[in-house]
Amino acid sequence: MRGRIIGLVPTMGNIHAGHLALLERCRQECDFAVATIFVNPLQFGPAEDFADYPRTLEQDRELLAANGCDLLLHPSVAEVYGDNPECSTQVRVPGLSGRLCGASRPGHFDGVATVVTRLLNYAGADVAYFGLKDYQQFLIIRKLATDLGMATRIAGVETVREPDGLALSSRNGYLSHTERAAAPALHRVLREMARRIETGARDFESIAAAGRRELAAAGFRIDYLEIRNADSLDPATAEQSNLIILAAAHLGRTRLIDNLRIDAGGA
Ligand code: PAJ
Repeated sequence: MRGRIIGLVPTMGNIHAGHLALLERCRQECDFAVATIFVNPLQFGPAEDFADYPRTLEQDRELLAANGCDLLLHPSVAEVYGDNPECSTQVRVPGLSGRLCGASRPGHFDGVATVVTRLLNYAGADVAYFGLKDYQQFLIIRKLATDLGMATRIAGVETVREPDGLALSSRNGYLSHTERAAAPALHRVLREMARRIETGARDFESIAAAGRRELAAAGFRIDYLEIRNADSLDPATAEQSNLIILAAAHLGRTRLIDNLRIDAGGA
């Protein structure tokens, strides 16, 4: 591989157009594209969907190969965590990991940080690609790579959406027909909030409260809907311009997340 740029696309499989957008960027920027499929037990809570998570390896293999993936790594749990997972090295990014999704999914981001550190080291990639749909995950991974002095550059790729605005996700397959019809409200509410901020509104708490009411009216059980600073994920203040609206909400048993970055233009 001397002289060739290696790119990495880590996934949990059930490959969709969002994953393929990462692969596409990887192929544009790198000479050799590696993808990983590993449903990481460490990042699922005890009551979460680890057992049910869609595993579609044969279909994934074909999709990845047809879209120019040069190498697919599909390690087993024992290969990643050894025979004694409880004693295996863990990686934690404090601060960023405890808020938003981390507050409702304790330990989730420790599991993500731990597996991504391993995957980055296995692949020895020059660049690794992550979706901005999972914005908090992206920030955590970027920070761990910086903090640990890793040579891999962490690149973010824009969210791929259905024509009605719903962000693609392997978990969308859990939605019933009625829930699928309600799901685009999540993105719609974020856009409406962004529009208010972009046209000068700065009362973030009342904008968020209105958004929460709309989401609830559309049938969502809200986990969080927040306007934050896009670098720190601290609550946004009126003089900041680099903002992000982040949401997590349930439709039935399905937890959906989405976000929208806003350039609020400064005060
Ligand atoms: P997974 O949910 O399979 O997603 C793999 C990668 O695809 C992540 O970087 C995610 O942000 C990105 N992605 C998912 N949906 C997307 C969309 N609609 N548009 C753009 N990118 C999208 O995220 C994970 O797996 C895991 O936590 C992982 C990082 C692999 C660690 O286990």
